[in-house]
Amino acid sequence: MVTDILLDDAALDRRFERILADVTRQGWSVQPDFLSAEDTAMLRAECDIRWRGGDFRHAGVGRGAELKIRPEVRSDHVHWLDPGVPDTPQQRHYFATMEGLRQALNRNLYLGLFDFEAFFAVYPPGKFYQKHLDRFRGSEERSFTAVFYLNDDWKEEDGGQLRLYLDEAGNGPWVDVLPCAGTLAVFITEGRWHEVLPATRERMSLTGFFRTR
Ligand code: OGA
Ligand code: MN
Repeated sequence: MVTDILLDDAALDRRFERILADVTRQGWSVQPDFLSAEDTAMLRAECDIRWRGGDFRHAGVGRGAELKIRPEVRSDHVHWLDPGVPDTPQQRHYFATMEGLRQALNRNLYLGLFDFEAFFAVYPPGKFYQKHLDRFRGSEERSFTAVFYLNDDWKEEDGGQLRLYLDEAGNGPWVDVLPCAGTLAVFITEGRWHEVLPATRERMSLTGFFRTR
């Protein structure tokens, strides 16, 4: 975990405050302009270069021996990052920001989050991720989900919404989140059904999970 960058930015603290208030009240939060346009553009550029360079693979469902490529369930492509060894300054900055969020969540909500795993995800046009939970079968490690979006000028009619179901059964009602550059969507992982609707454009994000032991 990167801890060598001090997060003393007052604006960022206010963003954390809003996230804490939302999560305490409803278990999820959506923050537009979570990072600056410059920081978001750097992450976007990195994702783009890696994607065009063939540095992604088909995302799987399940893990270990149960890992399967099931495009009828999930048809995005992913590039996993190593938080311990960030490849670029923008990754390093992102992980430092998430470390600040982790500490804020633990201080205030006692979630016991101990680390963070993250990947770039690309959904080509028409691709999607059906309604799901982020925890693997038999595992409670993933405890808090954070999805950061990288797409400039995204409009309602482009599709690609993150649909967050508000009920425990995942039938609705729901809220739809547009994957606009700079927006961070977070939620308590346990029991939170969600899906990614197909888009008419390529859709890029940086998705991560805070884990407990
Ligand atoms: C996921 C996921 C949401 C999104 O990767 O598990 O649900 O909006 N992503 O990309
Ligand atoms: Mn998910």
